[in-house]
Amino acid sequence: MAKFTLNGVEREVPDGINLIEAALLFGVRIPHYCYHPGLSPEGNCRMCAVEIEGIPKLQTACTTLVADGMVVHTESEKVIRERTEVMEFLLRNHPIDCPICDQAGECGLQKYYMEHGLHDSRVAVEEKILKRKRVDLGPLVVLDSERCILCSRCVRFCDEIAGVRELVLANRGGRSEITTFPGRTLENPYSGNVIDICPVGALTSKDFRFKVRVWFLKTAGSICPGCERGCNIYIEQYQNEVQRIRPRANLDVNRWWICDDGRLDYKWINRDRLLRAEGEAGAHSPERADEEAARILREAGSVLLVASPRSSNENLFALKRFRDAALPRAALVGGSFRKPWEGDRILKRPDRNPNRKGMEILGLSGDLEGALRKAPDCVLVVENDLLGDRPDLADLLRGKKLIALASNRDATAEKAALRIPVCTYAETEGSWTNFEGRTQAFHPVLKAVGESRPVFRVLEGIARALGASLEWSDFGALREETFQAAPALGSLSPSPGGGAHAL
Ligand code: SF4
Ligand code: SF4
Ligand code: FES
Repeated sequence: MAKFTLNGVEREVPDGINLIEAALLFGVRIPHYCYHPGLSPEGNCRMCAVEIEGIPKLQTACTTLVADGMVVHTESEKVIRERTEVMEFLLRNHPIDCPICDQAGECGLQKYYMEHGLHDSRVAVEEKILKRKRVDLGPLVVLDSERCILCSRCVRFCDEIAGVRELVLANRGGRSEITTFPGRTLENPYSGNVIDICPVGALTSKDFRFKVRVWFLKTAGSICPGCERGCNIYIEQYQNEVQRIRPRANLDVNRWWICDDGRLDYKWINRDRLLRAEGEAGAHSPERADEEAARILREAGSVLLVASPRSSNENLFALKRFRDAALPRAALVGGSFRKPWEGDRILKRPDRNPNRKGMEILGLSGDLEGALRKAPDCVLVVENDLLGDRPDLADLLRGKKLIALASNRDATAEKAALRIPVCTYAETEGSWTNFEGRTQAFHPVLKAVGESRPVFRVLEGIARALGASLEWSDFGALREETFQAAPALGSLSPSPGGGAHAL
């Protein structure tokens, strides 16, 4: 541990951390641009200058490690003047086009100008050096060179995290700019992270730009459904449609990053939703749908229930309880939901199902093909697009009555004799257990669309119509029972709330 004095107060911090991190432990935020906790320090923006007694010149807090006996001032007159001058320098050629900039509202230049700048520009607009305004860097990212402050976060991200040399700082002086290496594009599978870590509006997302002003967005912490890593994310919505996904920092799971596939894995939430229950005779109210499901299940000689490795632990447990309470003779197996992809050494895992581990812990794995070969009369599929994912199962499913509890009009729902709408993970509470056995909660950010209900509520309704007793007072009661019944799920992992900007 090191003892140092911060703004007149003696503090103790772990050895080996820099002054930005040390000050942050006591709620003192030192402004910075080029420093990012996930990248090597470079000390190029000079915004983090602090005064250290005994050293005549100001020092950069991002490259200075705290040391025993150090006396540091972060708000002295000299420091404040330096910040204002750095801001003036960084804005020397800035086009001041905030009204049309996608970053407005979450921009480090706006933030620090209001806190530490507030100067009038001494450079007339016509004297500013013009640079390229719309540079297509790759499939996800557009660069506006005039807004760039040359902090090099994006270059370091590609070099150090993605492990590819795609971006470079070219030219000199006022003409310096970020560009791709000749003949290359910014297309590594993690390229979208440069948008999040760019502290200004220089790198914007092709997918998100000009869709909605950021101050209209509503945000909730969630978990990426894209693979069994379970990266922590923010889902951001406007008018009950997901607009973008951003990483939520969790040092134990995904650090500050997500992959591009995870970033774009939200469009299905907004489109092709099943809004009302539909059967062979047309649309049904929720109550009528539950009764119709009960009728089909009652009339079937044999029933197979198919669970999904993308269902929450709570919904999987509810399905087990449903079987025990309402259909004790029915078979119950877990199926795949999405075909594997190639994992990598960074985050992506080969298994694209977010809750394979939870499904195994709850004892719901099994031989799906074998169960289908036993020729059940009726198959109730819960949150699982069996036919879309495994078209090869079409023969085994032919001639069976299908009931689908589905959020979207997927291939399985379209073929079902009865389809009942259920909420996506963005509309409900739940938890998934990742490949390491870490159980993480997600929270609703959207209102349920149409007449969709949480899976466990639909199962309660069908059980009621079958004359069985199955009821939870609220989601909390279901969660408590789930975790009591399956101690191997562990307890819910803490849910940190840090963003990727880390300004
Ligand atoms: S584009 Fe953004 S992240 Fe890259 S150097 Fe410029 S300001 Fe920094
Ligand atoms: S690595 Fe997996 S969990 Fe993480 S963002 Fe990508 S798809 Fe989502
Ligand atoms: S010099 Fe320290 S954050 Fe840029």
